[in-house]
Amino acid sequence: MKIFAFSSLCFFFFFTLSLHRVLSVNHSSSPPRGWNSYDSFCWTISEEEFLQNANLVSQRLHVHGYEYVVVDYLWYRRKVKGAYPDSLGFDVIDEWGRMVPDPGRWPSASGGRGFTEIANKVHSMGLKFGIHVMRGISTQAVNANTPIFDVTTGKAYVENGRQWYAKDIGLTERKCAWMSHGFMSVDTTLGAGKAFLRSLYQQYADWSVDFVKNDCVFGDDLDVNEIRYVSQVLRGLDRPILYSLSPGTSVTPTMAKDIHHLVNMYRITGDDWDTWGDVASHFDVTRDFATANMIGAEGLLGNSWPDLDMLPLGWLTDPGSNDGPHRYGKLYPNEQRTQMTLWSMAKSPLMFGGDMRRLDEFTLHLITNPTLLEINSFSSNNMEFPYITAGLQSRNQGQSWQSITLTDDSAPETHFMGLTSCMDSKAEGWFIKALDEEIEQVCWKESLRSKNHEPFCLYKRKALLESDEKMTYKQQYKGNLRLLGTEAMEFCLDASPKRKLTSKEFKRGSFSPCRLDSNQMWELNNNGTLVNSYSGLCATINTEKATAVPGGIRSWIATGRKGEIFVAFFNLNPARTVISTMLSDLAKALPSENLSDDSCTAREVWSGEDIGVITQSITMAVEVHGCALFVLNCTSH
Ligand SMILES: *[C@@H]1O[C@H](CO)[C@@H](O)[C@H](O)[C@H]1NC(C)=O
Ligand SMILES: *[C@@H]1O[C@H](CO)[C@@H](O)[C@H](O)[C@H]1NC(C)=O
Ligand SMILES: *[C@@H]1O[C@H](CO)[C@@H](O)[C@H](O)[C@H]1NC(C)=O
Ligand SMILES: *[C@@H]1O[C@H](CO)[C@@H](O)[C@H](O)[C@H]1NC(C)=O
Repeated sequence: MKIFAFSSLCFFFFFTLSLHRVLSVNHSSSPPRGWNSYDSFCWTISEEEFLQNANLVSQRLHVHGYEYVVVDYLWYRRKVKGAYPDSLGFDVIDEWGRMVPDPGRWPSASGGRGFTEIANKVHSMGLKFGIHVMRGISTQAVNANTPIFDVTTGKAYVENGRQWYAKDIGLTERKCAWMSHGFMSVDTTLGAGKAFLRSLYQQYADWSVDFVKNDCVFGDDLDVNEIRYVSQVLRGLDRPILYSLSPGTSVTPTMAKDIHHLVNMYRITGDDWDTWGDVASHFDVTRDFATANMIGAEGLLGNSWPDLDMLPLGWLTDPGSNDGPHRYGKLYPNEQRTQMTLWSMAKSPLMFGGDMRRLDEFTLHLITNPTLLEINSFSSNNMEFPYITAGLQSRNQGQSWQSITLTDDSAPETHFMGLTSCMDSKAEGWFIKALDEEIEQVCWKESLRSKNHEPFCLYKRKALLESDEKMTYKQQYKGNLRLLGTEAMEFCLDASPKRKLTSKEFKRGSFSPCRLDSNQMWELNNNGTLVNSYSGLCATINTEKATAVPGGIRSWIATGRKGEIFVAFFNLNPARTVISTMLSDLAKALPSENLSDDSCTAREVWSGEDIGVITQSITMAVEVHGCALFVLNCTSH
């Protein structure tokens, strides 16, 4: 197997860097806005497709403030058979272990030019250019043990009289949990670890990159050391590079307080896709970040913004796919308005994810709605507003959303597979079940309370792959099992200690194409434990109540730069709901100078309806999963 591909100009590099003057450049004080390739192309985008999209962004969205065009992950991966998001060995890296755009997909990058030509083209369109990068160093560079480039000397990094290599800095025990074959952290306590990160970000600056989305350093994969050091490098560069962190699974405001001043935006949720559950799950965490005053807090050379993720609207692909755009988003129009309204009221960065080449009129109008964009850029005092009631306004006065949130006690249970010590009795309970002479299953003892009360079973993989013929592997993995999720499935169960087998993470790679990888090798012990060759840990099944999709009603409030007040009502219930608030309650949330409590004039944005003068309360029937957005003028005359 070819371990890594050198770019043809790998012996050529620039070292003008140490001469650069450090300019003090500030980032804009509004949430960044732009387009990102992930929702429509996953990792597969080509130069041509990217430039087509960028060109359309410049023609149709730039005037609305969409400014950054961002290439999402794995631009260095060759698009060939066998390559997929967590594959190993398909990446183009240079002699210093740095990722280089795959010249097969990015022809202008050949000859060691990197993204320079693309960035220049994007700049000539009036836009800014962004790239996604993973944490630390690639496993491929560590396996190849590439030397480390020192940007200050333009040569290999030397310290204490010796050269340093990838194996010196790669922390193999700190792999990226959601891409465990691809990348690992580097040791930032070593001069060589710092030099490596510096060589990456200096190169991005040399390519004229304006935005980096740094993945697998935040949330479940938090690496504050890397974030801190990268931020320091970016601060010292001669061009402003916006710093974005992703993803944000399990993030809390407390966690974000360690990093908000080092970055410009950071995800506060896992990936958002086009399901109602994904939209609804953003309300609680967004409220918590607003309450903690994190919206527009101090950031790297400017402000930092809690990021609710890209907008998967329009023409899309699927999560973790090897294919480009091929389907329309599944959210209903009301649900899309709710998403756009929450993202705007919470001042999230707005990164459109649909393929620009098939942008429909509905989506275009949604993402360019002038009131929403005004709120997103310029509103203040943004927060969840608790003083709303459901039902007839004359009853239940003062009832707040907490007491009417629907709690669903009948929420189904989910089962997820976890890993535990093999000495743990919770690991005992696996047995072999023969379906017929051909097919055997490995099953878990308890019948789980699923629909059909069947035990949870995995399928033993029958035939060996062609590539399995290698004798060494046969010896090494003798007696090991590989386990499939379904009989027909060509994906094998991976063991990753941090992953739960929920539908979402399933897509993130708990199963991946079957290969001879110790991560996929399992052995059934006599006492009913199922041990994984990679980690030496044993599989167990845990049962959890599925998190119900939040229901109830919600409201957000903000003030505009002309003194107007924005009030949004959201109906998360599966039924049309009348939502009200008293005008006198607005003063409980907002500075009172522009409020008169007797009357306001109001306009509703989505219907375009001019409501005229309202007194005492605002009331509106809101459709299933829909929202209402009022612009109020309550200035006392
Ligand atoms: C950038 O912001 C800092 C802090 O707010 C300020 O001191 C500095 O003058 C600003 N620089 C520019 C170029 O605007
Ligand atoms: C089951 O057997 C394995 C292998 O002999 C052993 O390592 C493990 O501790 C045992 N586990 C329990 C719970 O008895
Ligand atoms: C609000 O109403 C007052 C009085 O009619 C008017 O002067 C002001 O311009 C209005 N403000 C906005 C933001 O429309
Ligand atoms: C009140 O309204 C004026 C304009 O009418 C505006 O300049 C000011 O910022 C508003 N104050 C608040 C707290 O929104």
